[in-house]
Amino acid sequence: MMPRPVSDHIVQAHQLSRVYPLGPSQVVGLDRVDLEIPTGALVVLKGASGSGKSTLLALMAALDAPTHGDLLVAGHDLKQLSETQKTAFRRKVVGMVFQSFNLLPTLSVQENVCLPALLAGAAFDATRDRAAELLDWLGMADRRQHRPAQLSGGEMQRTAIARALINQPQLVLADEPTGNLDSRNGDMVIQLLHDLNRKQACTVIIATHSDQADSLATQFIHLKDGTRIQDRGQR
Ligand SMILES: Nc1ncnc2c1ncn2[C@@H]1O[C@H](COP(=O)(O)OP(=O)(O)OP(=O)(O)O)[C@@H](O)[C@H]1O
Ligand SMILES: [Mg+2]
Repeated sequence: MMPRPVSDHIVQAHQLSRVYPLGPSQVVGLDRVDLEIPTGALVVLKGASGSGKSTLLALMAALDAPTHGDLLVAGHDLKQLSETQKTAFRRKVVGMVFQSFNLLPTLSVQENVCLPALLAGAAFDATRDRAAELLDWLGMADRRQHRPAQLSGGEMQRTAIARALINQPQLVLADEPTGNLDSRNGDMVIQLLHDLNRKQACTVIIATHSDQADSLATQFIHLKDGTRIQDRGQR
């Protein structure tokens, strides 16, 4: 998988569309969206429920494929990737954080965090050390052996963030990461994503209904009924 030379934009979408077949009819998830996201940005993705935020993130993560249009992420033309290459892309290039955490219940915190690296073929010792470092940074050092059911919501989300970062992705996609958290834990998660963006030069895209991340955004993307509408704020 040879990415093109890295441009100033980590994401470039042209006329990006996703139409879901639904019985005899269709549902438009995303409708001819054009966008460019500069490398190193912290993007806040906004829009009412059903506006296409999760659809857009799933396309950028190569979890789903567009029905029309082009999408370039970190130099990879996602249309050109084979299934094997997409698997590698999902593991190494992007990290995803979900509203519902999606941790494996039978694995410990440490095992959940290490899994994507071990699946990608990383050495065990190096992976364990990196997981320890991440969990330290996230204030989770003393929760390493806990199972997800033994964690608070905020701790589950911090575990999910460590898991998203274990393979050092260039792009972190967070889909409503504070949706299941109280405002204090939500603020902590947003602060951690901001830290990651500033200190590791990692591009971060956060889809959210809340205004917790607004003051940190370098760019807003607003969706309505699957289309992009005029950005209301940019700095
Ligand atoms: N697998 C699917 N099959 C059919 N329609 C779908 C599917 N996934 C999403 N949709 C539809 O696509 C549109 C966009 O959905 P999406 O999940 O991207 O919205 P969203 O902005 O993430 O909403 P929310 O804020 O509620 O999470 C909605 O109308 C939704 O019903
Ligand atoms: Mg959604």
